[in-house]
Amino acid sequence: MASVTLRGVKKSFQDTEILHGVDITIPEGSFTVLVGPSGCGKSTLLRMLAGLEEVTAGEIFIGDRCVNNMQPKERDIAMVFQNYALYPHMTVRENMAFSLKLAKADKEDSLRRVQRASEILGLTELLERYPRQLSGGQRQRVAMGRAIVRDPQVFLFDEPLSNLDAKLRVQMRTEIKSLHQRLKTTSVYVTHDQIEAMTMGDQIVVMRDGIVEQVGGPLDLYENPVNTFVAGFIGSPAMNMLPGKLSHGNGGTDIELNDGARFRVRESVVGQDGQAVLFGTRPEHLSIDDAGPLKVVANVIEPTGADTFVACKHLDTEMTIVFRHRVDLVPEQTLGLRPDVAHTHLFDARSGLVIK
Ligand SMILES: Nc1ncnc2c1ncn2[C@@H]1O[C@H](COP(=O)(O)OP(=O)(O)OP(=O)(O)O)[C@@H](O)[C@H]1O
Ligand SMILES: [Mg+2]
Repeated sequence: MASVTLRGVKKSFQDTEILHGVDITIPEGSFTVLVGPSGCGKSTLLRMLAGLEEVTAGEIFIGDRCVNNMQPKERDIAMVFQNYALYPHMTVRENMAFSLKLAKADKEDSLRRVQRASEILGLTELLERYPRQLSGGQRQRVAMGRAIVRDPQVFLFDEPLSNLDAKLRVQMRTEIKSLHQRLKTTSVYVTHDQIEAMTMGDQIVVMRDGIVEQVGGPLDLYENPVNTFVAGFIGSPAMNMLPGKLSHGNGGTDIELNDGARFRVRESVVGQDGQAVLFGTRPEHLSIDDAGPLKVVANVIEPTGADTFVACKHLDTEMTIVFRHRVDLVPEQTLGLRPDVAHTHLFDARSGLVIK
């Protein structure tokens, strides 16, 4: 296994630049997830790592080798695609052994590798079947088997679970994660699903419009988003953001919301009096309190058993609250909320950047 390093990587298609200088360090043995909205350039970046797209500018290293001008097959990587790309006329065993055959690997060794991969993935009983005789989840496992037999330096995954139904997706997510814990092969995993990113990644790279917005561990991104984009993208339901302005005085900094509500947010905040800000608070960091500073109107109450989700409105801003207990609320009810200020976030309203 090897680390992967990207330095100032850019990509243009004809005259359009779609990756604008990407710097990422993927430690050896890590499971790094690239996440971001559709079209932000995740697949393009992964294809560049694989050698399927040329690098317009910058450098890509696998270990300490610059691979910019290296053919895909020289890079010692294996890629698992969204659509599995299995050969329909080959059995599971043949599908898994095919790349080894192409590489003219030793026959005995190939047999052993296929055997081992199929044991790891629970495919032993299915080796003589054809892809059409398999379920979606089984096909996905064969696609991973094909990558595993090659014992590459790096695994690349491009949304490998998006063709599966919700339940299977959760199951396969766990399987891929535990596979990584066993094999410890450096993995780069692309998804647009932030829950998949949070549950699978030990390092997450949040991208938007061809740039990297933030890199960090799942809880780091959740607790310390650097801007409103990451704050809104990571976490479900999304962070609530209320517009207001800063107001210093009485030995601390208050926020004043558009309805005139005013409360202390920090001992000290670097910012000017009257500066327009967004007050961010996650759905689980609000509690019901008649004397609380946020007056909201409940719209929809959704008990899920363990939790209760409440969709409500503060002036024109939609908010979501999650209660870990049952609550007695009716639609249209006005209620007071108290944010847990130790867990709140402030962003400059214009730049979207976090204010410390
Ligand atoms: N071969 C190509 N020629 C021209 N433009 C391309 C080409 N491939 C991708 N693009 C453009 O580059 C941008 C990034 O595409 P990419 O497939 O990397 O996005 P993505 O983040 O993987 O999105 P998704 O989540 O939808 O898969 C898009 O605007 C896309 O239209
Ligand atoms: Mg893609």
